[in-house]
Parts: sequence; C-alpha cells; structure tokens
Amino acid sequence: MQKFKKMRISITNLKGGVGKTTIATNLAASLILRGYNVCLVDTDLTQMSSMEWAGNRESDLPHVSVFGVNEKQLNKEVDKLNGEYDIVIIDGAPQISELAERTILASDILIIPISPSIYDFRAFENFLKKLNQVNTMRETYGMRLVETHVVMNRINERSNLSKGIIEAVESYSIPIFSTRLANRTAYGETATVGLSVVEWRDPKAANEMTQMTDELIEIIEKFKKE
Ligand SMILES: Nc1ncnc2c1ncn2[C@@H]1O[C@H](COP(=O)(O)OP(=O)(O)O)[C@@H](O)[C@H]1O
Ligand SMILES: [Mg+2]
Repeated sequence: MQKFKKMRISITNLKGGVGKTTIATNLAASLILRGYNVCLVDTDLTQMSSMEWAGNRESDLPHVSVFGVNEKQLNKEVDKLNGEYDIVIIDGAPQISELAERTILASDILIIPISPSIYDFRAFENFLKKLNQVNTMRETYGMRLVETHVVMNRINERSNLSKGIIEAVESYSIPIFSTRLANRTAYGETATVGLSVVEWRDPKAANEMTQMTDELIEIIEKFKKE
C-alpha cells in the first residue's frame, strides 16, 4: 500500500469569530470518524478554544488529540506531529502577526472561512496579500504553492448580504467549497460539549458537515496525487 502522504491543513483568516475553531474541530472529529489519523493544533493560545472543545469531549467518544503550539515553534512542532499523525489540522490565530505567515508556511492546504460581513471580507482581502507574499517566497525556493480554498460560513441563502459576499469572494479566482455552512444553533451547542455536528441531533447540520468532509477528502486525495 502506498504510504499516506503527510498533510498539514490550516483553517485561518486574519480575524476572530469567522468560524476557524468551529470548522477545525468539526473537520477533525469528522475525519477521525472516517478512519483518518488526525490531530489538531491550537495556535490561539490566548483563547485555546480547540483545547477547551477537546476537554469537553466525553471520554467514550473517538479521541481527538489537541496540542497547543507557540508561534515560534509552529513549523517544527507540526513536522514532529506529522511523524505520528497523517493529517495535522491547524486552528489559526486571529491576529495579523508573524504567526499568519508562519501558519501559511507550515501548510499544504489552507482553508479560509468567511462569514457574511464586510469586515470578514476585508480581512480575507488582507489575508490574500499575505498569502501572495508567502507563495512568491515559496516559488523562489521551488516549493509547491499553498493550495487555498474558501469556506462560506454562517450563510443565509436568502439574505442579500450573504449573496453579495459570496459574489465578492467569487470575483477572486480561489476555489470555494460548494458546501456552505448555514447559521445554526447546532454549532454553538456542540462546541460546549466537545462534539462535531456529525455526532449531533440536527440532521441538516450533520449533513452539511458530512458534505464538507467529503469535499475535503477529495481535495486531500487530489493533492496527494499531484
Ligand atoms: N455556522 C455557524 N452557525 C452558528 N454559529 C456559528 C457558526 N460558525 C461559528 N459559530 C459561532 O460563532 C462563534 C465564533 O466561532 P469560532 O469558531 O470560535 O470563530 P474563530 O475561531 O474564527 O474565532 C462561536 O460562538 C461559534 O459557535
Ligand atoms: Mg478560534
């Protein structure tokens, strides 16, 4: 059997409250339930939300390992974790700092969550500038560019604001997950008990996270072949 190619996936944007932790924890648990060997890295050491989420998780559920990592150690620690885990998911920190650059550098795949707010959209535009700088640097060193995908979070399909933000994001030629996450109480409720919505009683939430996981698995499989 072909050896699983190690993968580093970051969920990041230069802003708090866009759903980084929600998406990182949900995808980690969902991938583990599919049999992938995954751990989570929490870089937001002031909030430590991913760590808190895992701490709330009942011990009879599939275990999700979460490691708090200091920005200066990120690349080294993620490399080390990749020795043990096939997929390392990095829950990004919200501030514009060196950490954003380090996170991009330490990633194979980047997932940028955006919720329907003009502030989130501006943060996304700023983040793209950073991403372009890092990609130029990677190109210089003959490294592969970071594979980047946007996730639309907290979308209300009928709202003009949601539609407007989706159109604005589409004007950048960055792939967008076709699965959009709606604004659902299930995300807040599961966060407090350390669950993924695929383990929860809201079938609509479970269904959209299942679809998002399917899409991510496709991205991962394609990435491994290239
Ligand atoms: N799709 C969603 N529907 C409802 N609430 C959400 C959704 N995504 C995130 N939230 C809530 O928004 C808040 C911020 O999300 P969080 O994942 O902590 O963002 P970040 O990690 O980017 O700061 C949390 O209270 C979370 O439960
Ligand atoms: Mg967070």
